[in-house]
Amino acid sequence: MGLFSKKKDKKQQSVKENNKGSKKDTKGKANEDISEKIELNDENSNVFLKNKRSLKDLIAPESIDFTVDHRYAEIGDKNYMKNFYVGLLPNSVNFASFLHGLYNFGTVDTSIFIRPIDNETAKADLSKLRTNLEMEYLDNGGSTNRADDMASKVAEARRLREEVRDGLNKIYEVSIQGTLYEDDLRTLKNSTDQLKEMLSQQDIGLKSATYCQEEAFTSNKPLNDNKLGEWHTFDKRSLACVFPFTSNNINHPNGVPIGFNMDNGLPIFYDTFHRGLDNYNMVIFAKSGGGKSTFIKMLAARSSTLDNVQNIALDIEPEYRDIADTLGGVNIDVGSMSTTIINPFDIVVDIVKDKLTGKLVEKILLSDKINGVTSILMTMAKGQTENNLYYGDMTRMIIKQIVKKCYDDLAITEDPASLYRRADDQLVGDKIVGGLVKKEMPTISKWYQTLEKCPMRILIQHMSLTLITY
Ligand SMILES: Nc1ncnc2c1ncn2[C@@H]1O[C@H](COP(=O)(O)OP(=O)(O)O)[C@@H](O)[C@H]1O
Ligand SMILES: [Mg+2]
Repeated sequence: MGLFSKKKDKKQQSVKENNKGSKKDTKGKANEDISEKIELNDENSNVFLKNKRSLKDLIAPESIDFTVDHRYAEIGDKNYMKNFYVGLLPNSVNFASFLHGLYNFGTVDTSIFIRPIDNETAKADLSKLRTNLEMEYLDNGGSTNRADDMASKVAEARRLREEVRDGLNKIYEVSIQGTLYEDDLRTLKNSTDQLKEMLSQQDIGLKSATYCQEEAFTSNKPLNDNKLGEWHTFDKRSLACVFPFTSNNINHPNGVPIGFNMDNGLPIFYDTFHRGLDNYNMVIFAKSGGGKSTFIKMLAARSSTLDNVQNIALDIEPEYRDIADTLGGVNIDVGSMSTTIINPFDIVVDIVKDKLTGKLVEKILLSDKINGVTSILMTMAKGQTENNLYYGDMTRMIIKQIVKKCYDDLAITEDPASLYRRADDQLVGDKIVGGLVKKEMPTISKWYQTLEKCPMRILIQHMSLTLITY
């Protein structure tokens, strides 16, 4: 029946199209007529066209067998499906999360049939229902609990009828069906149990379409032909909850597109700095040649162009050189042959959480910095000589004291403001300029000069000051 009506539709459509063509220009019509004739001839004579495979032939499975069992069907030799329908529903449903489990559970196709009931019928039926309920209420047999239940049902019917009458609400008939696909029977059974269990927590009763697998399967295809006929009554508010608002997909509002979710085919928008994420870190696992580097480059390119995110690659091979060039970035060479010099004494202001107030504050982690620079200088010194004995704790202490002195000389403390000094006002053109200027940071040469200038006596004094606390 369904197929027949579809064919009819198609014919009507082609007739319509032909009419359109003839209205537009007669030449077009003539062309169409000729092509139609050729087609007819081809179908009969041209073996190549006659036997051509269509898209349907390509995507159709080898077979679908509904006779193997009345509880499931077999697709080809090694795929199974189970068709079911929603048989029971709770009295009221939650907005946004209703049917979430069904939509996002593995490979499940879901169909929702919606049949609007016209307001007159809805009002008349609700009136009838209300009268019946009121009769039952009056005839409740003396049980107060039952009387309460009936009273609330009567009130609900009255409320709904009033809303429909005033045009605030509408009544629908809704039918919900699903098909679950799995690779083997055991998994199919487990997944069905899991899905049923999950939905039952929301009082949604999923029923297997036993003995009517084929009907349920064809109902669940986009043919708008519900062969199962298991309907529920919904009002406008409940129906609004049926819409798939949520998905198990990553979809950050300002994210960049990074690909498609293989489970549900939806695009993934990912924002590294999204508040919902615990931190900014990301780990990428894949086998060699799996596309890890390509992914990172794509993320860098898209996040920098779409979201203005700055990317820094610490690159041992010059693998990211091209992408930096393409995106208008800079490549900084660091190495023994390069002219770029990194000053280990340079200070960056950190943002740390205040332990007492929990607020984020700017701070210079000076002792960490001093330890860091000391380690670098120690490593550099060790690199020049094999004699590790000489470069022991004492040397480390001396290096550290001089590093500390370099910062002390510039009056740098943990306060970020100590990085700046007040410049003298001076006349530039016709303007007086002044204000805060960043202090010049110590360098390794400066450190060496400080070391040379520092008499042993002062060094020892420094060290004893450090040790005095013990
Ligand atoms: N999504 C993709 N589509 C097609 N080819 C890809 C894709 N991702 C990576 N490639 C190709 O696969 C090869 C290996 O990718 P690569 O990122 O170097 O892998 P990995 O860093 O994981 O070893 C490259 O030639 C790359 O162009
Ligand atoms: Mg790689």
